[in-house]
Amino acid sequence: MQKASEQQWLVTGANGNLGRRFVVATLSSTQDRIRAVVRSARAAKQLTAIELTAEQRGRLDVRVLDYTDQEALLGAAQGCSRALHLVGILKATKSAPYAQAHEASAEVMAKVCDHSSIEHLTYLSILGSTASSPNACLASKGRAEDILLSAATLVCVLRVPMVLGEGDYASRALLARGAQARSLAFRPQSLEQPIYAGDVIQAVTQAALLKHAGALDLAGAESLSRKDLLQRVAACMGKTTVVMGLPIALGYALASCMQALLANPPLTSAMLGVLDHDDAIDPAPALQALQMQALCSVDTTINKLLAANLDA
Ligand SMILES: NC(=O)c1ccc[n+]([C@@H]2O[C@H](COP(=O)([O-])OP(=O)(O)OC[C@H]3O[C@@H](n4cnc5c(N)ncnc54)[C@H](OP(=O)(O)O)[C@@H]3O)[C@@H](O)[C@H]2O)c1
Repeated sequence: MQKASEQQWLVTGANGNLGRRFVVATLSSTQDRIRAVVRSARAAKQLTAIELTAEQRGRLDVRVLDYTDQEALLGAAQGCSRALHLVGILKATKSAPYAQAHEASAEVMAKVCDHSSIEHLTYLSILGSTASSPNACLASKGRAEDILLSAATLVCVLRVPMVLGEGDYASRALLARGAQARSLAFRPQSLEQPIYAGDVIQAVTQAALLKHAGALDLAGAESLSRKDLLQRVAACMGKTTVVMGLPIALGYALASCMQALLANPPLTSAMLGVLDHDDAIDPAPALQALQMQALCSVDTTINKLLAANLDA
């Protein structure tokens, strides 16, 4: 029988980078159970491929459903006390607009929380998100935040910038660029404040434990320019790299052309705007609210990524 301190989580978008990381961290460090919700058999396979012990696997229940199917999501939420909503996109396409991924899924999630045993929900959003943002992605995330924060259930919105975790796509790309003798970057003085994925998972756990309600901006320990970040990566590898700047206007022109010509462009204006957002906040208030100690430094984070690359 489940002990009082053991929790049952409902996690949507559970097959993504942070979802898989949350699943591993939670099943290995607690006796909690996870109902992991995904939207396809392919996504479910990503979860079954995670290395877990038989006992841990027994505490993972994977469900495939449409995030806008309220009845199905309500069924999956039965018996859960905590929820984590990880559904989100950086790049919208004609067939997958921001409103569908963010606002529509948030509407359903808010209703499901209010009509189920869920006592607390955490939503991962993007630093800079607000409904009034001129950027389509940040505005959509901001509207999804507002929808969730208006639920009767206690909701914590965690706005984070670039997340770096062992083996994820963004981290591999960053390491690859840092390893080059020369690289090009749009607006290299743009400010980054990357946060270690393990710190994000800890923040989610603390938010649920403390039943924190409200929005928190949480970013890494240091804000530095994109150029400095690439040079820090190179230095951690014992190398040097020269970063040459490209005007951001060129990036937007390129993105506009791709959007006009391609159904699924590799770059969009909204995506570029999020990546180009200047991230420079004081993480202390969020750390205090979540009763967390200091975050991983940039160098510690890079060294963790490098160590994982060597192991792979
Ligand atoms: N990673 C970061 O650097 C970062 C930074 C700030 C905020 N966040 C936020 O944190 C959350 C999780 O991030 P992550 O890195 O784990 O993302 P991820 O790996 O891209 O996973 C995103 C999840 O959303 C689902 N999804 C994508 N498009 C969808 C759509 N149109 N409709 C419904 N579901 C859709 C994906 O399902 P499929 O696999 O089936 O497509 C996947 O389960 C996201 O909401 C993101 O905005 C992440």
